[in-house]
Amino acid sequence: MQEKCRLVWCPIALFLLLASRALAEDRFHIGTIANRGSFAYEHLRYAIDRWNSEHGSHTHIKFSIVSPIRYDNNYEERMCEIMQQGIVAVVLSNEEDEQDAQLIKSMCHYFNIPCLSLASSSLRDTVSDFVTLLGPSRGAGARATSEFLDSMRWTGFLLAYQHGTDLEELSPLMQYKQIADTGGRRIHIKVRRLPNNTDDYEPFLKHVKTRLKQTNIIIHSNNITVLYNLLQQARGLNMAEPPFSYVFTNTDLSLLEDFLNNMYGASFHCNITGLQLVKNDPMMKTQLALTSEAVYVAGMAIYRMREVGLDVKGLWKWLNLSTRPRTPTIGGNVRLARHLDGWPNNERRHSEGNF
Ligand SMILES: *[C@@H]1O[C@H](CO)[C@@H](O)[C@H](O)[C@H]1NC(C)=O
Ligand SMILES: *[C@@H]1O[C@H](CO)[C@@H](O)[C@H](O)[C@H]1NC(C)=O
Ligand SMILES: *[C@@H]1O[C@H](CO)[C@@H](O)[C@H](O)[C@H]1NC(C)=O
Ligand SMILES: *[C@@H]1O[C@H](CO)[C@@H](O)[C@H](O)[C@H]1NC(C)=O
Repeated sequence: MQEKCRLVWCPIALFLLLASRALAEDRFHIGTIANRGSFAYEHLRYAIDRWNSEHGSHTHIKFSIVSPIRYDNNYEERMCEIMQQGIVAVVLSNEEDEQDAQLIKSMCHYFNIPCLSLASSSLRDTVSDFVTLLGPSRGAGARATSEFLDSMRWTGFLLAYQHGTDLEELSPLMQYKQIADTGGRRIHIKVRRLPNNTDDYEPFLKHVKTRLKQTNIIIHSNNITVLYNLLQQARGLNMAEPPFSYVFTNTDLSLLEDFLNNMYGASFHCNITGLQLVKNDPMMKTQLALTSEAVYVAGMAIYRMREVGLDVKGLWKWLNLSTRPRTPTIGGNVRLARHLDGWPNNERRHSEGNF
């Protein structure tokens, strides 16, 4: 416990020193707490390369990626490690679990480091000037889908989801339309979990067809391979023609367009609907597109600030250590929380559990 807290506090002086030096130049550091080689890291690397080649020369702003070098660290240590390298922003992907994401957002808030989050980690997310949500809020896919359903006039549907943790997100669909809203017409909703640990969905699909007798099917899975397998097997079972109809909450369904549009001799004769969040040319995965947006936002923010004569250092409001209590050996949760005077109550509660 003590060790971790000390790690949060100690590097700050060094961080300030490096930050001010980095900021005097045209090259800025964007941080990620993801490991090298992970999707999140590779997405950020791509996004930074893209900014540097498309906007680097005319804006005189270039970015480099900063990530933790040690792999097995916990998230506080990772944050400390990247903060020491003077970052102008942290891009937070959706690969962290909820607690870790909250911790990082709290640290960004406290240390005044802009955090660009690609996913809302919970319905009660951290509220901070330093945390910007770029991606959809949690449950947005389900809400969009339920609005779309209004135009379908379905009398019922099957909602199939992949992970137990998806349920919170899916509540807008599970509570779709109270009877009162439909003029007394009852909407039948069945909810089932997709089979685990298998690529064989035929037994599940047969069950849907013959036992559940459902033809309106909503599939919630963030894994595009799962959707591909499922659709291919549905076609094999003649479930890709009327009266079957599919809606996917996944925002990457458009990547399967060639497959769905009969490019490879196969055919789908039913309605298949998906959502698309980010229009991007070339077409790319939502997470990659959002990461590009995040880097673009950071780049343009710095650019505009310079245009109006603002020093990046000034606006980013770097932590001024001399105004903060310095207690490197803070031990327990309660004592730490008392010293973190800048933290709103809700975050303090959260951080107490983590530190
Ligand atoms: C999936 O696996 C979990 C545990 O790993 C289990 O609790 C759940 O019942 C399984 N669901 C299905 C549909 O097989
Ligand atoms: C997606 O599903 C495929 C096939 O089931 C699996 O091999 C892969 O590991 C999954 N990807 C993720 C990120 O879970
Ligand atoms: C597909 O959806 C449209 C409305 O969006 C509907 O008019 C049409 O009947 C549907 N087709 C099938 C085969 O379900
Ligand atoms: C930091 O705060 C101290 C005390 O309030 C002040 O004297 C000092 O000028 C500040 N430094 C910066 C860089 O803002």
